[in-house]
Amino acid sequence: MRKEKVLITGASSGIGLTCAIYLTFKGYKVIGTSRHPEKLNKDLLKNRYLEMHTKYLIKHRKSSKEILVKGKIHISKEILINLDNLIEKIKFVPLDITDSNSVSNTIPKLMSEGVRIIVNNAGDGHFGPIETLSIEHAKAQLDLNYFGHLRVIQNALPYMRKNGGFIINNASLGGYIPLPFHSHYSSSKAAIRMLTETLRLELKPFNIKVVSLNPGVINTPFNVNMHTPQAGSGEETYEYTEENSITSLKKLLNALPTPKTSPYYPAAKQTWETVVRNMIRGPSPQIVAKKLFKIISSKKPKVHYISSNFIQRFGYFLMRRITSDKLKIFITRKFYGI
Ligand SMILES: NC(=O)c1ccc[n+]([C@@H]2O[C@H](COP(=O)([O-])OP(=O)(O)OC[C@H]3O[C@@H](n4cnc5c(N)ncnc54)[C@H](OP(=O)(O)O)[C@@H]3O)[C@@H](O)[C@H]2O)c1
Repeated sequence: MRKEKVLITGASSGIGLTCAIYLTFKGYKVIGTSRHPEKLNKDLLKNRYLEMHTKYLIKHRKSSKEILVKGKIHISKEILINLDNLIEKIKFVPLDITDSNSVSNTIPKLMSEGVRIIVNNAGDGHFGPIETLSIEHAKAQLDLNYFGHLRVIQNALPYMRKNGGFIINNASLGGYIPLPFHSHYSSSKAAIRMLTETLRLELKPFNIKVVSLNPGVINTPFNVNMHTPQAGSGEETYEYTEENSITSLKKLLNALPTPKTSPYYPAAKQTWETVVRNMIRGPSPQIVAKKLFKIISSKKPKVHYISSNFIQRFGYFLMRRITSDKLKIFITRKFYGI
C-alpha cells in the first residue's frame, strides 16, 4: 500500500504529527488535519516535533528540588536532516471532527481525491472526579473521542466500499485499564475499541480493513491540552498556551485541576502528578509511528495493536492475561498511589 494517500486527523501535534512525518518519510502522501491549519508553520511544527523527541530526566523526584534535565534528541539521522522537507510535504487541511458540517464538507472531497487510509487520531482528555465533572464535559469527551471518529468513518465508507480501504482508530491502553479521574476518556477509548470490532464484522465483504492502535503513555503535549475544569464549577480553570511547553514540569504539576476543598483532592493530586511525570518520562511518539507503519504495511492485520515501551506492555500483559478484574482495579489504585 506504499505511496498511497493517508489521512491523519489531528496531525498538528503529538502522535498525529509524528505519524505524519514518519509516513511521509516512508513515501506515503500524507494529508494532515488541524482545526487551525492557518496557525501552523514549519518552525512551529518542527519545534513541537523536536520537543517530543527530546529525552528528559526528572531529578530529585517529588522533592522541592525537583528539576527536569534535558537530554538528547532521539530521532534517526535520516529524518532529522530531512525534517524541513518532510514537514513541507505534508498537506494540512482544516477539520473539526466535532462539527458535522466540517466533516461532511471535508471527508468526501478527500476520499474522492484518492485517500485510502484513514488514521482516526484526533483526541483529547478531560480530567476530574466523576461526581463533579459536568455532563457537558462527559459529552464533549465522547463527542470528540468517539462521535468525532464515527463522523469521519460514516463520511468515508461510501467511498471505501467502492475502492477498499484501511481505517486505523487510535484508541489507548486507557481503554483497557481504568484511569482514575479520566473516566470518560477511558470510556471513549473502550468504545472505540468496540467500534473497531463491530466495523470488522460489517465491513468484511467490502475489502476494508479496520484496526485499533492502542498507545500506552507517550510523551506528547496531551496533558498540556487536557481539559481540567475545576470540580463542581464546570468552569475551565487553566488556560494552556503555546508557552506552556511540556517541559515546564512545575507549571503542569501546579495546574492540578481539582481544588483543595474537594473531597477528591488528595487522590486527584496524586493521580495528576503521576500522570504528568509519567508522560514526560514516556517514550516518544516515534514508537507509535513505527507501529502504524507496520500495521498499514500488513496484508492481514490483527484487530488490536499495542504500542508502548517494554514496561508498559508488560504491565498491560499482566493486567490482561493474568489478573482478575478485581485485582486489576487494585493494581491500578496502587500504581496511582490512591
Ligand atoms: N499521549 C498519550 O499518552 C496517548 C496515549 C494513548 C492514546 N493517545 C491518543 O492519541 C491521540 C493524539 O493524542 P496526542 O497525545 O498526540 O495529543 P495532542 O498532542 O494534544 O494532539 C491532539 C491532536 O488532536 C487534534 N484535535 C483536537 N481536537 C480536535 C477536533 N475537535 N477536531 C480535529 N482535531 C482535533 C489537535 O489538533 P488542533 O488543535 O490543531 O485542531 C491535535 O493535533 C488522541 O486520540 C489520544 O487519546 C495518546
